Amino acid sequence: MQQVADYLIKVKAEFKDGQIVPEIPAEEVMRLVNEPNIVIVQTGIPADMLQSMVGATRAWAEKTPLAEAPDTFDNNQHKQRLHIAKIQKAPQLFHDHTFDAILDLDAETREALLAVFHPIRKFWNALTGNNEEFGIRKGQPYFHPQVTHYPMGGSFFGRHWHPLTPQKVGTILALNQYGKDYHSGGTGYVINDQIVETEGHQNMGDMVLFRYDLPHWVSPSSFADRFSWDDPRGRWVAILPFYDPWGKPAEDKEPQGWKEQIKQAVV
Ligand SMILES: [Fe+2]
Repeated sequence: MQQVADYLIKVKAEFKDGQIVPEIPAEEVMRLVNEPNIVIVQTGIPADMLQSMVGATRAWAEKTPLAEAPDTFDNNQHKQRLHIAKIQKAPQLFHDHTFDAILDLDAETREALLAVFHPIRKFWNALTGNNEEFGIRKGQPYFHPQVTHYPMGGSFFGRHWHPLTPQKVGTILALNQYGKDYHSGGTGYVINDQIVETEGHQNMGDMVLFRYDLPHWVSPSSFADRFSWDDPRGRWVAILPFYDPWGKPAEDKEPQGWKEQIKQAVV
């Protein structure tokens, strides 16, 4: 592992039998996350699998009308978001593809997505001590696999935070390459009143891990580029939120005293 900036650590990993195997034990990775640090895991997931995930998502979106109704968290849908998020009270502009019913997708799309989401799921399970599968479970937390496109020309996600549990650790996998496929935008965090930017540090196949209650945001793609929802260029990421959408709504204030919570965090 390597410290690349204050609170920013890179950890190498091997991709073996469909699993992300870090160079240090999962418990040690989680200890670094909880300290807290932003940990970038170089997963080694092959580029063609990441490209297939983006390709399959785009092909699926082309034949699937944009969702307009409020989210029901029990289907596969995609939306072009340009508003202030209801739960997080943060402004946002991006195109998300959310596969709550990932197991119900047509075989081709499902296989391309699960080839990457299964390794993310298994790694998250290893980090958090869970043993969760995909599928909708009303009244309980479950996975909401998402592929997000941040188009060129001003996409972003404003500062927000999430309750620490049940997610504990957020996972953001880069599906394409900074400096080649896109030139600006990345996630930023606040740790001990210091801003930690990951922009430029996250390569294709790298997964950013962060304590889920750290304030964070996605810095904008350059306004110098022309914006278009239909232009597939820009930053693509896969995330794997785990929560109960019908559970108690989160407090709308940022958590106070999260440093004390670190000691209590169940790993
Ligand atoms: Fe977030």
